[in-house]
Amino acid sequence: MSILIEIRDICKVYNPGENEVWALDHVNVTIDRGEFVAIIGQSGSGKSTLMNILGCLDVPTGGSYLLNGQDVAKMSDDELSDIRNREIGFIFQGFNLIPNLTAKENVELPLIYRGVARSRRVALAVNALEKVGLGHRMEHRPSQLSGGQQQRVAIARAIAQAPPVILADEPTGNLDSHSTVEIMNILKELHREGRTVILITHDNEIAAQAKRVIKIKDGRIESDEVRDAEGTAIEGTAIEGTVPETIASAGMILEQTGR
Ligand SMILES: Nc1ncnc2c1ncn2[C@@H]1O[C@H](COP(=O)(O)OP(=O)(O)OP(=O)(O)O)[C@@H](O)[C@H]1O
Ligand SMILES: [Mg+2]
Repeated sequence: MSILIEIRDICKVYNPGENEVWALDHVNVTIDRGEFVAIIGQSGSGKSTLMNILGCLDVPTGGSYLLNGQDVAKMSDDELSDIRNREIGFIFQGFNLIPNLTAKENVELPLIYRGVARSRRVALAVNALEKVGLGHRMEHRPSQLSGGQQQRVAIARAIAQAPPVILADEPTGNLDSHSTVEIMNILKELHREGRTVILITHDNEIAAQAKRVIKIKDGRIESDEVRDAEGTAIEGTAIEGTVPETIASAGMILEQTGR
């Protein structure tokens, strides 16, 4: 498999100075195209920070990031937004749905920014919502949907245009066990279709469903293990010191796209 993501000595320091926080402390990770990777760690360990950097939503304080072999630091804003729009489907921690738009309009929104024509947009949104089992809730607003359904709208929004990479930050957080199984099945299906899925979670049971589990603690990678079908580690490394991850808000994307 070819290398998709290669980060080297990535650091992210918030509030440099007296109250500085090393959210990521020299993190090294390589992810191949087509992998299904879980990034696990406790609250505050740096998962969302890492996801934001992997998704080109935030820039690291130090270190290098090669995406598809290209140095992200050397990309222009246009190139970065192009990558975010075409390559990556974001599923954000806490859904980030727009309250006064219906499920269908929420899924359509990023497609508007990508300049997709209306009829095609509607077709993609309907198709994505049907795929996550929400064909019967397309005209509902987020407040009229259950938590699990809102999360499925967020997934539909991320996958509508079939991006090759899915970045999901706690997609099953705060969901009941039934909804959790549904969401995980959708992510597994996306992986089977050939997408790279990077799943952030604090839940061991969820992480164990991925082929590879990277553990982050205090901004450092604690371990990085590949598992067999039974969930037994078949290849692994305990690593001194690194882990990152980041996700930004949909609001940020909206700002970046000028909406
Ligand atoms: N904008 C910010 N300014 C200052 N500190 C921040 C900022 N964002 C995150 N942090 C700090 O960086 C660390 C990592 O935060 P991050 O959001 O990446 O954690 P997380 O692993 O995603 O946690 P959770 O599981 O609770 O979502 C935390 O200690 C947090 O307080
Ligand atoms: Mg987080």
